Amino acid sequence: MRPGVAVLDFGGQYAHLIANRIRRLQVYSEIFPPTADPSRIEGASGIVYSGGPGSVYDTDQPAFNDALLDLDLPILGLCYGHQLICHRLGGEVVPSEIREFGSAELRILSRVGPFSGLSDTETVWMSHGDTVLRLPDGFERIGETTDCPAAAVGNAERKIYGFQFHPEVAHTPNGNRMLDNFLTLCDAPREWTMSGYAEEAIERIRAQTGDRNVFLLVSGGVDSTVAFGLINKALGPERVLGLHIDNGFMRKQETDLVARYMKENGFDNLIIEDASDEFLLSVEGMVEPEAKRYAIGKTFLDVKDRVLEKLDLDADSWLLGQGTLYPDTIESGGTENAALIKTHHNRIDLIEEMIAEGKVVEPLAQLYKDEVRDLGETLGIPHALVWRHPFPGPGLGVRCLCSTGEAEPAVPAEAEATARDIAASAGLGFRILPIRSVGVQGDFRTYAHPGLVWGDADWRTLEDVSTRITNSVSDVNRVIYLISSDAPPDLQLKRAFLDRRRLDLLREADAIAMEAIGDAGFEREIAQMPTVLLPLSADGAGETVVLRPIVTPDFMTARFSELPMDFVRSVASRIVGLDGVDAVCYDVTHKPPATVEWE
Ligand code: XMP
Repeated sequence: MRPGVAVLDFGGQYAHLIANRIRRLQVYSEIFPPTADPSRIEGASGIVYSGGPGSVYDTDQPAFNDALLDLDLPILGLCYGHQLICHRLGGEVVPSEIREFGSAELRILSRVGPFSGLSDTETVWMSHGDTVLRLPDGFERIGETTDCPAAAVGNAERKIYGFQFHPEVAHTPNGNRMLDNFLTLCDAPREWTMSGYAEEAIERIRAQTGDRNVFLLVSGGVDSTVAFGLINKALGPERVLGLHIDNGFMRKQETDLVARYMKENGFDNLIIEDASDEFLLSVEGMVEPEAKRYAIGKTFLDVKDRVLEKLDLDADSWLLGQGTLYPDTIESGGTENAALIKTHHNRIDLIEEMIAEGKVVEPLAQLYKDEVRDLGETLGIPHALVWRHPFPGPGLGVRCLCSTGEAEPAVPAEAEATARDIAASAGLGFRILPIRSVGVQGDFRTYAHPGLVWGDADWRTLEDVSTRITNSVSDVNRVIYLISSDAPPDLQLKRAFLDRRRLDLLREADAIAMEAIGDAGFEREIAQMPTVLLPLSADGAGETVVLRPIVTPDFMTARFSELPMDFVRSVASRIVGLDGVDAVCYDVTHKPPATVEWE
């Protein structure tokens, strides 16, 4: 490989983020499977072992080529990677008594190697079940947390270090500094730039397409817009055609806005297709999130084929372009060792088949959102387009929860009692809701219940209660706080599916929330704000709305955003004023344990 740092991917949700962070520090980085022959990484300056969903004692742990540990290169093991190194070099790894997800205080015991120049204590992000009990010979502890004595270990002579926490996520504020120190230890050349990447990407697009053209689905979001700009630059507008599909799950007036934005910014090779009836039909009667995601993803392909046919474009000479980012792949379980968290609409099996046949052009597939924005700016795409909040392909389809009216599996009474006691210790009321949403814990997907809390509380208390509940009760992966009243109305589950009436209601609630965010100038402060509709009704007719503003640079981890409480209550009072809304709540869960979107 080129001089830089090799990242071994054990399937952790953050494996690729490590490469992103390293590139941000201007060092070339490439991902390899842990089975790679050492000859493949010849020329590397160092190796990072990623985290992963496995345990070193699992029989189905990712295969690993031990020879990679014998190379005379600096090594940094993270989470599973740290455990694997300790285990393989003669230490002992055991399941921890307390599973840790979220922030922890790291006490630094030795400011050596990756910890040079750091403070005595650092906030770090933990997401693990196992822990290192005994160190291999030659290693010492260099950092500890209350629940994890071997949170950071090192062998300075061999330049091998291991962290139980994740320095690559933004919620380890000085994680970048630690990685930077590691790159210095590796003596890695700092030569990587985004404009260099853009040139390479353009060359790759030209090589892949040959004399064929590209037909690209353009939602109007950041990713597809930047992909459209890049492919246009590589091939010229006459060989590229953008298709914006109104799938019926768009925000209020979104399609009109996209059409206008694109025209104003000189993208003339874009057509618009209203396929909302077809999409609604495809999800009729569905409740399960993955079923909805699959149906929506498949309908995108059906509509694309129909439009190609209508325009009389020969399918063999038009490749499909997509603005897929790396998190779309990893969360869809699309790398060798990764677990499925949710299938992104651009990662359904039909598309995987087309990718295998070389029929899909995805110039952003190695990048994260922050890099895509950077690339967009490098290409000269206007700021207003590059900095829009992201909006998922399946749109409001995965923000409008559905139900047959039958309660989801009951939660054991002791679990509910444990959660209620935690909430009560902070003076809050609590109940588990009879629906489920998707989460991610320790690199695995969860599909569990939200807990509703109510009463007088500030964000600190809510964060603490939410973290304690989700850490102690595995049936709860998300906590929401009632903001439209002091105590909840008697919310009952009702039968509800994806239909125009519910989507229109959600569109109205979402428009109120987004407008308020824009007017108050919070648009840049928060990264994204899904508004979610739950089939929970006080009177059988109404529904419950949840606001989910988050803060994150990369969407792989996120914190719920702490907007001023007065502002939040005023938005809630406007939304609860809508005909058909009975209650408004605020999601107070980080990612992990919840995901950004509810489904
Ligand atoms: P999650 O819910 O996985 O969301 O924490 C992380 C980011 O990904 C977006 N997202 C999607 N984007 N197609 C997309 O284009 C999808 O199917 C999809 N699902 C989630 C989500 O909005 C957030 O920005």
